[in-house]
This record gives sequence, C-alpha cells and structure tokens, in this order.
Amino acid sequence: MTRPRIFETIAGLRADVEAARRSGRRIAMVPTMGALHEGHLSLVRAAQAKADLVIVSIFVNPTQFAPNEDFDAYPRDNDSDIAKLSELGVDAVFLPTVGEMYPKGFATGVSVGGPSQGLESVTRPHFFNGVALVVTKLLLAALPDLAIFGEKDYQQLCVIRQFVRDLNIPIEIEGAPTVREDDGLAMSSRNRYLGPDDRKRAALLPAVLRETLQALDAGTPVADALDRGRSRLTDGGFEVDYLELRTADTLAPFDDATRELRLLVAAKLGATRLIDNIPWSRAS
Ligand code: PAF
Repeated sequence: MTRPRIFETIAGLRADVEAARRSGRRIAMVPTMGALHEGHLSLVRAAQAKADLVIVSIFVNPTQFAPNEDFDAYPRDNDSDIAKLSELGVDAVFLPTVGEMYPKGFATGVSVGGPSQGLESVTRPHFFNGVALVVTKLLLAALPDLAIFGEKDYQQLCVIRQFVRDLNIPIEIEGAPTVREDDGLAMSSRNRYLGPDDRKRAALLPAVLRETLQALDAGTPVADALDRGRSRLTDGGFEVDYLELRTADTLAPFDDATRELRLLVAAKLGATRLIDNIPWSRAS
C-alpha cells in the first residue's frame, strides 16, 4: 500500500502531471467532493483500467451550494479518503483549499445551457454553474487525457460533456455506471444523513424507477406511468421534486421517434434529498 502524492496547489499538481505526460503516460482524473464510498472507488478502478496515472481530486466546492444548502455540514474526512485511495494504489490526490481554487479577486463564471435546463436546476438554479466552473478549473489544472464521472449524477454528466465539447477542452469525458446498495439505493455521500427509518424507506426510490420502466415497457402511456410513479413515492413518504423521462444524450424533451431515453427522479425524505436515474430503450 503506497500513500498517494498529495498536492494542495495547482502549480504542484501541474509539475507532477507534466513529468508523467512527458514520459508518455496516459493520465486519468476522478473529480470528487470526498466522503468516498464504493461508488467513487468504482470510478477510480475504471480510471485505473484506462490510464497509467490516476489523480483523484477532493474538493467540497462552495460555488455549487446555495446559502441554504449543506456546504458546512457536507461530510469531510480526508484521512479516511486518503487511506481508501492508498489501498487502491492511486498515484496522486489533489486537495486544494478554497483560496487556491477561488483566490481573492476571482471574478469568472461558466454558464451552461442545453442539458442544464430543468430537473435539478428548478430547485437548485445555482448548481450547474458552480459545477461547470469547478470542473473546468480542475480539468485545466491537471489536463488529464480523460476524466470519469458517475452516471448517478446523470444531468451533471450531460452538462460536463456539453461544456467540454463547447469549450474545446481536449479531454475525454467518460460516464461510469451507478453503484447500488443491496436494496437498490444508489450510493451517495448524502445517504448518511438518512435516519434508520428513512434509510429503509429510501429503497422505494429505485423500486419506483424500475416499476415505471416496467409500465412503459408494457405500453402504459408515458404521462400515466409517471403519474403512477409520483403517487407511489408520495404515498411512501417522499416529497417529489421531479420524476421525468428525457432524451438520453441531450436531456431534451422527446417524441415517439426517440429510442434512447433516461428516467430521472429527485425526491426528499425528510431533509434529505435523493436523486437517481435509469436508462430506458424504447422498443421499435
Ligand atoms: O459530483 C461531484 O462530486 C461534484 O459535483 C464534482 C463533479 C466533483 C464537482 O464538484
């Protein structure tokens, strides 16, 4: 088990990556906000399978939290995160401070249209501009060959693909499948906010996604299948933000000719907001 090289500055990270690049090594980055669970570790393994050198960034990004959200309470445990990354043999960890990422006088934003519209943006209008800004900075700090993000945050993945393409950032973006608990709940750093009763109830969220897809496969009209899904969640104690079906790659509204779709959900159990999604391929 070797402890990864830890960098707190962009200059330090760049010098390290530059040396690896000169020696022809393929470099992958896995951006995270820490509190690492098996979902993150699966991204790291996917990166290791595709690259010679893997950098994991751990940065709880203030610009993607609204003032009423959980920035201060967001779980932070660098020692345990670094121990997990050491076990996997990760080469480098980028652990910048807020001051390193957003120094005094910082005055730039990155605003993305297209897939950022609707869904998460309805209740979290600040969120994707904050994600786009920090991911742009992280990618430009390391300039890896590829970066891997979880499909659990599917809208985020679409937004990242959009701005990377639009800004000609020369980095491949890869999505990796959601990792789930035994009862189907998607792994998330925020699951630890759930008390024991809500944790049991939370399994209804992925169950409703699966049931809705079964209803769609059986020919139930989309509006009816979604209405039934929303009612099931409300009856199960959730406050539903959305349960929507969108075009898979763009998240645009779809028509009868659209074959590849994505079913996305966000709902609250008490104070804990959970999101999830699954693909649906319409039979032709
Ligand atoms: O998905 C996350 O953990 C964060 O939104 C990301 C992509 C690391 C940006 O802060």
